[in-house]
Amino acid sequence: MWNNITSCSLWRLSPSFMSSRIQTLTPLFIRHYKDFCKNRQTIWTLRNSLCQVLKKTVPTLTCNMFPHCFVSNKARYGQYKKTFPVLDGSIPSVCEHVFEENLRNSEACIQSFVFEIRYSELLCKVSKGGGESAILRHTQRNKKLLVRERLRMLLDDETFLELSPFAGFDLPYGDVPAAGCLTGIGKICGVWCVFVANDATVKGGTAYPISVKKQLRAQQIAIQNRLLSIYLVDSGGAFLPLQAELFPDQSHGGRVFYNEAIMSAMKIPQVAVVCGSCTAGGAYVPTVAEETVIVDKIGSMFLAGPPLVKAATGEDISPEDLGGASMHSKVSGCVDHFASSEKEAYECVRNIVLTLNYELPPEETLEYDDPLYSAEELLGLAPRGYSYTLHIKLILSRLIDGSRFQEFKAEYGTTLVTGFAHMEGHLVGIVANNGQLTHDASLKGSHFVQLCSQRSIPILFLQNTAPHAPEPTSLSQAEDHTNRLKAQASMMAAVACAAVPKITLVIGGCYGNESYAMARDDDCTGDDSELKHLKEKLDEESSAFHSSARLWDDGIILPQNSRKVIAQCLTIMKQQKYQIASLQHYPVIRL
Ligand code: COA
Repeated sequence: MWNNITSCSLWRLSPSFMSSRIQTLTPLFIRHYKDFCKNRQTIWTLRNSLCQVLKKTVPTLTCNMFPHCFVSNKARYGQYKKTFPVLDGSIPSVCEHVFEENLRNSEACIQSFVFEIRYSELLCKVSKGGGESAILRHTQRNKKLLVRERLRMLLDDETFLELSPFAGFDLPYGDVPAAGCLTGIGKICGVWCVFVANDATVKGGTAYPISVKKQLRAQQIAIQNRLLSIYLVDSGGAFLPLQAELFPDQSHGGRVFYNEAIMSAMKIPQVAVVCGSCTAGGAYVPTVAEETVIVDKIGSMFLAGPPLVKAATGEDISPEDLGGASMHSKVSGCVDHFASSEKEAYECVRNIVLTLNYELPPEETLEYDDPLYSAEELLGLAPRGYSYTLHIKLILSRLIDGSRFQEFKAEYGTTLVTGFAHMEGHLVGIVANNGQLTHDASLKGSHFVQLCSQRSIPILFLQNTAPHAPEPTSLSQAEDHTNRLKAQASMMAAVACAAVPKITLVIGGCYGNESYAMARDDDCTGDDSELKHLKEKLDEESSAFHSSARLWDDGIILPQNSRKVIAQCLTIMKQQKYQIASLQHYPVIRL
């Protein structure tokens, strides 16, 4: 089972940086941009003259800070045949037994019990939200569509990259298996959008701490990739028994509304649909959004619902009169569009997207070759343990276009493999563990990551870190150890500062557990059963399911789907290249 962690960031001018220069720049920019639109051949003229204008006005600005599409030379490169060397991905016969063992393990992870969890079974369970009776209440009594049906009505097609579906499934929140909200990335009218959709079958769509974390992660992805955000709001606000873990802190519930305002100021549109009863925090999300649709009879919004009004003032009032669709669209102005059905509401959202004036990537069909080796064989290459790891190039040859790889520093620091390849036509820099991260491997990684950053190429990390090296027992070993740590620190700094999208695919262990257990062994006075219990706990807590439930990653994917998912991420990340950096520094505020 492989974890997929997607985190991405691209350079962008921060709105505050540009604000003081906006008066000077805007007319010039518009003039040059119009010329550019008329005749794409003026691209270099446009870029150069803008750079000159900006350099005069903003001395620290470099040409590289422009939206990438203005400086791309991809069209010129496109005519050249991709001639990177082809990797030999055939499995050596001496490794066949390891391949077979890995294959058995991968199939077991998907189909049969491992740590009492089955991937397919768990996926099915979390997709049912709060269970059968809650689904009946939602659909029969409350006459609402289920969250996945809503998404189906909104999206252009079936393509939906769901984020962290296992979030919260094993956390001690009683009988609910999911975070009560679904997040993901899909397309509306050709525009990639991030979706945050409450699942009201899970405790009325109320927010648990993990639900807040999940929403914040979706917003972070939206910010980093400048993706339009769509909120389908059907939430009773905070899950009250856990309110102390939801309200006060910096990364708690209030951050969701803060982010909405910040994103709006960054010109990342915020659109909401009120498609259920929304109380307190559930009501803030659509109210802070730039444009909001409400569904008649189904949608309502209030800070406190009718029971609280009754308790506070003694007044009997219906949800409709207190905060229904008519009231908010005719009296309060808290929503902008009244829809008589859910279907109408989602059609309205699609129309709103058409008014965003978005620049979309040109309709280009990227030509690419499939890998020369079958993706199904990745099941036999996903290591069941670190000692079952086969050469990383066997995996690479099943992921990249035509199995072609332009390796960088092939003979140096060979426990890290670095180089360039294409994934469904997208150029990507690859940094892949192939053993311990030694001193030389770290320096090589650091160099390569900086190259990618310099060239604005997204980086794909294939992570399979070795168990901790034994503690040094001599002075010379200690010196080696220190040097290795220094080189690793240099690589860490290079990775942290690389201003390009980064995708991490965990293909094996993020180890530490074996040496951790042995270190405890020294101090441990417990008996065998205690050690066994400790080992079981470590095994369980090292599993992909455990990390995914806590949102340490963005989801678990099957090895054979890796290429598809990574290529999809690369496509989504590309959308922001076609937007102009924001020149605005204030959000749309609803009065
Ligand atoms: N905190 C904790 N649990 C809540 C909750 C909240 N704020 N709101 C609802 N629930 C639970 C209910 O106890 C019920 O649990 P159960 O399935 O174990 O019985 C479940 O969510 C569904 O609630 P129910 O009222 O039966 O469903 P509904 O569809 O008729 O109404 C709401 C859903 C959210 C509209 C309604 O429950 C409500 O108004 N809740 C109060 C919201 C509130 O005051 N929030 C303030 C937050 S600061």
